[in-house]
Amino acid sequence: MVKQCTKQNSGEVVKNVQEVMSELDRWVAAHGNGQYGPADYQPLRELEIYPDNAIQQVRAEIKEFIEEVVKRGLCGRALEIGIGYYGSTHFLWSLLFEKVITVEKSPERCRAFAHRYSKFCDGLWPTSDDRSGFIFGLSSDPASVRKAYDATLRQLDLLFIDGAHGYDAVLCDWLLYHNLVRKGGLIGFHDCATDDLGQSGVPQFLRKLENGEIDGKKYSLQRIVHSQHIGIAFYECK
Ligand SMILES: C[S@@+](CC[C@H](N)C(=O)[O-])C[C@H]1O[C@@H](n2cnc3c(N)ncnc32)[C@H](O)[C@@H]1O
Repeated sequence: MVKQCTKQNSGEVVKNVQEVMSELDRWVAAHGNGQYGPADYQPLRELEIYPDNAIQQVRAEIKEFIEEVVKRGLCGRALEIGIGYYGSTHFLWSLLFEKVITVEKSPERCRAFAHRYSKFCDGLWPTSDDRSGFIFGLSSDPASVRKAYDATLRQLDLLFIDGAHGYDAVLCDWLLYHNLVRKGGLIGFHDCATDDLGQSGVPQFLRKLENGEIDGKKYSLQRIVHSQHIGIAFYECK
């Protein structure tokens, strides 16, 4: 029996890294092309289309990030920006945290995720036990921000920024949501190693954050990169 699927009865949140990875592996195998993001992912050329990966994370990178979460004992509330095609990171956070909220501009993706989740978890609808929540709208929409502030009580253990990847968008997401994370919580940024893609502003934003060019403070970032162009950067809130 899958522990995560028994959460409704036991209230238990799985926190062992191996268990989490094996649950995530099972989810990934059941969706899309059954694979994680490829470590040798190359930028798309014109007219190409993304492959149908079940999750956009590279397995070794997300595993290391999970280790950082688990070793700090973070298990309360998580907020992510961007659900992706299969909702695989929402599923992952639901294994680790008591409450997970995703801000996503596409309600259809969230609804499709709910059906997939229900199928995967023996009929359990993700929002039925109040541990999953979805805010439909652009992350920069004032209503999304108000809902996130109300729903998280400004006590987040994790903020994971993986929505729009342009410089302005990442800046906006960080400015609007970083104050929701409590001391000791983590703020993660996906795609920190996309420098030469020419379409992502994540590395540029992170450099400025480290140099104190965003709000005058210098943030000490850690980077987990086991791929050519993907990677996760994060810092612990002081
Ligand atoms: C890169 S995908 C997320 C991938 C997912 N975290 C994973 O690892 O599989 C980005 C998602 O963010 C959503 N998105 C893009 N810009 C957004 C915005 N400004 N506000 C809310 N959602 C946005 C897209 O619709 C898409 O579902």
